[in-house]
Amino acid sequence: MGFPDGFLWGTATASYQIEGAAAEDGRAPSIWDTFSRTPGKVLNGDTGDVATDHYHRWREDVAAMARLGVGAYRFSISWSRVMPGGEPNAKGIGFYSRLVDELLDHGIAPVATLYHWDLPQELEDAGGWPARDTALRFHDYAEMIGAALGDRVHTWTTLNEPWCSAFLGYASGVHAPGRTDPVDALKAAHHLNLAHGLANSALRRVASGRHSVTLNLHHLRGEDEAVRRVDAVSNRVFLDPMLGRGYPGDLLADTAGLTDWSFVRDGDEATIAAPLDVLGVNYYSPTLVRTWDGTSPREHADGHRRGAATPFVGCEEIEFAGQPGPYTAMGWPIDATGMTELLLRLHREYPGTPLMVTENGAAFDDEVDAEGAVRDARRVAYLRDHIAAVGRAIDEGADVRGYFAWSLLDNFEWAYGYAKRFGLIHVDYPTGERTWKDSAFWYRDAIASHGATI
Ligand code: NOJ
Repeated sequence: MGFPDGFLWGTATASYQIEGAAAEDGRAPSIWDTFSRTPGKVLNGDTGDVATDHYHRWREDVAAMARLGVGAYRFSISWSRVMPGGEPNAKGIGFYSRLVDELLDHGIAPVATLYHWDLPQELEDAGGWPARDTALRFHDYAEMIGAALGDRVHTWTTLNEPWCSAFLGYASGVHAPGRTDPVDALKAAHHLNLAHGLANSALRRVASGRHSVTLNLHHLRGEDEAVRRVDAVSNRVFLDPMLGRGYPGDLLADTAGLTDWSFVRDGDEATIAAPLDVLGVNYYSPTLVRTWDGTSPREHADGHRRGAATPFVGCEEIEFAGQPGPYTAMGWPIDATGMTELLLRLHREYPGTPLMVTENGAAFDDEVDAEGAVRDARRVAYLRDHIAAVGRAIDEGADVRGYFAWSLLDNFEWAYGYAKRFGLIHVDYPTGERTWKDSAFWYRDAIASHGATI
């Protein structure tokens, strides 16, 4: 399969999921520190206090990436580590500065995400994402860290999956901060959009490199009206304003019973529409929707619920239907055709914006066997099929610039704690020991052939 010259092969992680060192070098608590300490919120009471201990093992992890042969590494910066209490923290900034230099020394392009869900707790206490001021604070943070890492970052990503921040954080409450108010979730979505626009403009001023955002777009199938509604409140609520179209009229109409959207001020949509060089896309599995008949027990197979209220605000009469397997350990159906379809939809409906697959991967119950190997054949198959699906989208015209496997190593899978393993590299949590899974060796060979062996 032919991938274009310059196509980036990478792996991805996020600060709270891997770093640990939660109270070191001046880091202040984030909403995930608070949430993970709240009984019943995270499986087995797991927290990110130690995680994979990447804060101390970062050189070893960069060396592993060099052996994998990746051309890029997507990591996130912990806002509360670099700007606790709203003031720059030299020790926290120094950590990322050294990481970036080490990556560059190994020929690995740094792809830095500013916000991968770990809002400083003090900002949540002041209102969190439903409060407009949080977007202004994000601008200050972006300007500060943009100037500090300036010309050394290959691609800047403002936000990771703002849908999760807004709707899992403030509507269903299965993610931090665990609030359950649908109007707050819509306000959060707008202020995340605004934060993105403000930060994007600030970064364009103070830092070189490419400028991007990463969205988890739901690849929807099923009945037209159900697809339209869920698409509006999960995909187009971010895509349209970010790509210069403003908020979709059908979204405003669908949610009119909840809010008049008067929290959107004059000029906000222009701010949000600051130019993007590349759109990051995270894809794991498709979603099947239909209108609920109102009588039979309603299905909730959306993969994001765990018994809580719906994160899909305004979609109360929609059913998230089960899909045929096989499934990953998350219970997510494995279907690589959705990857091709999603990339081609973006290519068709939002032409002119280059795409990058910033996350794709699968959790399985991996174990290190007696020979010291991790035989994760299902992950190898998953990665092979999904990378091939990216290749098909490229063949059909989509401008896709890279692929990042989630994740470099097993890590803290949010509400599932350490129970779900997405890594190419296995982590033994009691010791921190890393073991390459078969998928890591396979990915190394795939990268070495620039995808020709897939
Ligand atoms: C999306 C998120 O960005 C990441 O943090 C998470 O671990 C993976 N998907 C897997 O659920």
